[in-house]
Amino acid sequence: MIRVAPSLLAADFARLSEEIEDVRSAGAEWLHYDVMDGHFVPNISMGIPVLESVRKTTDLFLDAHLMITEPIRYVRQFCDAGADLVNVHVEADTEEKLREALGIVKQEGKLCGVTVKPKTPWEAVLPYLDQIDLVLVMTVEPGFGGQHFMAEQMDKVRALRRLFDDRNLDIRLEVDGGVDRNTAPVCIEAGADVLVAGSAVFRASDRREAVRLIRGQ
Ligand code: DX5
Ligand code: ZN
Repeated sequence: MIRVAPSLLAADFARLSEEIEDVRSAGAEWLHYDVMDGHFVPNISMGIPVLESVRKTTDLFLDAHLMITEPIRYVRQFCDAGADLVNVHVEADTEEKLREALGIVKQEGKLCGVTVKPKTPWEAVLPYLDQIDLVLVMTVEPGFGGQHFMAEQMDKVRALRRLFDDRNLDIRLEVDGGVDRNTAPVCIEAGADVLVAGSAVFRASDRREAVRLIRGQ
C-alpha cells in the first residue's frame, strides 16, 4: 500500500495544527518531520519541543527524519516526544553507533529507518537490515525543500526493492525530495511505497487532489 507523507517543512509554521489537520483530511496517513542541525546539513529547522506539540495535535503517523550528526545523542528524546518512526542517516555516525541508536529506538517501542544521501550507494544500508523497518532514499541533497527531483536515484530504489523482495524482507522504501504528481509515478514504478512530498502538497491549491495524484489514484 502506498503512503503519502507530507513534509511539515513546507507548512505555515504559525498555523501548524490547522495545516496538519488539513493534510490529514486531504487523505495523508503519515506526516514527515524534518530535523536539521545546521551541521549535518547547512540549514536549521525544528526539533524536539515542536514535535511534542505536533504529537498533541494529531494522531497521524509521525515519521521523523533526523538530518543531524551523531543522532544517538537524541533518538530517545525524539521517541519520547512522540515520533512513531525515527530515521537516521547512514552518513551521520559510525556503523557501531548507528546500530546502537537504532537499538534505542526499538527499545522505545518505535519503528526505525536508515536514510541514504544521493551520493551514498545503496549497499550502505546492508549492515542495518536486521534492525530496520524502512529505508529512505533521498531524491535531493538534504537540507532544503523545493528542490529538483533526481531521477537517477531510481536505480538505487530499484536495487533496494529487488533486495527486499529477494530476501523477503518486510522493509518499507521511502523517497524524499522533489516528489510531486509527475515524479511520484516514477518512484512507485521503481518500487517506493512511502512518498514524502513537501511543496507538492502544502503549496497545492487543492491538497486533496495533490495527495490523490501523488498516491497514483
Ligand atoms: C529535504 C527534506 C525533505 C523536504 C522535501 O532535506 O528532507 O523532506 O522537506 O520537500 P519537497 O517535497 O518540497 O522537495
Ligand atoms: Zn525529509
